Amino acid sequence: MLESTKAAASKFGLDAQFIETKANTEKNIRVLGNDLTFLDIRESERTKHVHRLHPYLGKFIPQLVHVFLKKYFRKGQTILDPFAGSGTMLVEANVLGMNSVGVELSPFNVLIQKVKTQEYDIPKLEAEVRDALTRVRSFSRELTNGSCSLLPEGRERFETSSDYLKTWFAARALQEMLFYRSIIDNYENSDVLRVILSRSARSARLIPHYDLARPKKPVRERYWCIKHKRYCQPIDEALKFINRYSLDTVKRIKQFASLRTDATIKICQGDGRNVQLPEDMVIDGVFTSPPYVGIIDYHEQHKYAYELFGFPRLDKHEIGPAKNGQSRNRKNEYVDGIAGVFRNSFRQVRRAGLVFVVANDRFNLYPKIAELSGLHQIDVFQRPVLMRTERDSNKYFESIFCFMKV
Ligand SMILES: C[S@@+](CC[C@H](N)C(=O)[O-])C[C@H]1O[C@@H](n2cnc3c(N)ncnc32)[C@H](O)[C@@H]1O
Repeated sequence: MLESTKAAASKFGLDAQFIETKANTEKNIRVLGNDLTFLDIRESERTKHVHRLHPYLGKFIPQLVHVFLKKYFRKGQTILDPFAGSGTMLVEANVLGMNSVGVELSPFNVLIQKVKTQEYDIPKLEAEVRDALTRVRSFSRELTNGSCSLLPEGRERFETSSDYLKTWFAARALQEMLFYRSIIDNYENSDVLRVILSRSARSARLIPHYDLARPKKPVRERYWCIKHKRYCQPIDEALKFINRYSLDTVKRIKQFASLRTDATIKICQGDGRNVQLPEDMVIDGVFTSPPYVGIIDYHEQHKYAYELFGFPRLDKHEIGPAKNGQSRNRKNEYVDGIAGVFRNSFRQVRRAGLVFVVANDRFNLYPKIAELSGLHQIDVFQRPVLMRTERDSNKYFESIFCFMKV
């Protein structure tokens, strides 16, 4: 391992020797110049600029994408991610001057990608975000004072037909969110405001502080908080999060604006098995991380956003959702599904183009997927996944397969 990561491993109480052997860090350093543990990369760097515009379970560490793109591709080339998720590859490719194409099923994930990667008139964006914030602050002040001049004519409160929103938010938080939602369409940068509201809604749910990623039931009473090691109160407002995330979002967009290049970013929403990429597009390579079998429900993890904005739910087209489990049939479906996406979306990848697939392949499904997709494996790297979000602190190893399109 690199000296800096060894020191970090000992700080986190990890067995460096075990990681070195299991991940073959010596090979990673020799071939890639990096041991791929990223243990010495601080949280603020892992979530730098737009990478933390919105939480998203199961995204890449940007540094991992950077190492591979830089080693195997050149400025001006075009890279595809057929499972683009929150858009990490698109952002990192752009910083390196590489064009990118992303395909993603979930409409909300596509919104996150667009907001991360769009070009902005920054003064206009900042003015709009500040204006919306001022308005929701006034609304909240009135709400807590018991007056209601900012409600639509003749209404005593904002209503919603969503049982989910009524169940998972305190009355005040819900009113603040519904007010903010009601003004979003007045702004040119409405998608940015949607992301701010969604991120705030996620934090304002009636959930214990230690279980943001997979809450089980709403908390309405004081509870013992494992994260803060004290009793905590359930969250009753959304305003403090809208406050916190409004200017943070603008700051992050500005930071990326100062790094971005002229390279193009194309985003396609759809099921990767039948989405149509532009016929004349030539793709030089692929860097992707497909959903794994039976681990995450990608729509469900952002249920608050679907309920707030009414985006269509396309869960039934998700490949390998957690809710379907990991039975033999589900694994077979998974193999067909991923191979279907690869076959369809790799049609424009040039022959001998390199395809990198990051996967925790504990069921050894990728050799079959490669065979069905016309890919030939030329190498595989291993890396430990040591620090996950919130309490989801599983430790495991993942592979980065290097295939060639034949
Ligand atoms: C592991 S995540 C990718 C995360 C991404 N690397 C990032 O950094 O954000 C896999 C993604 O595949 C998407 N997905 C699942 N089924 C799909 C399908 N049939 N077509 C396209 N995308 C799909 C999920 O919505 C999810 O966002």
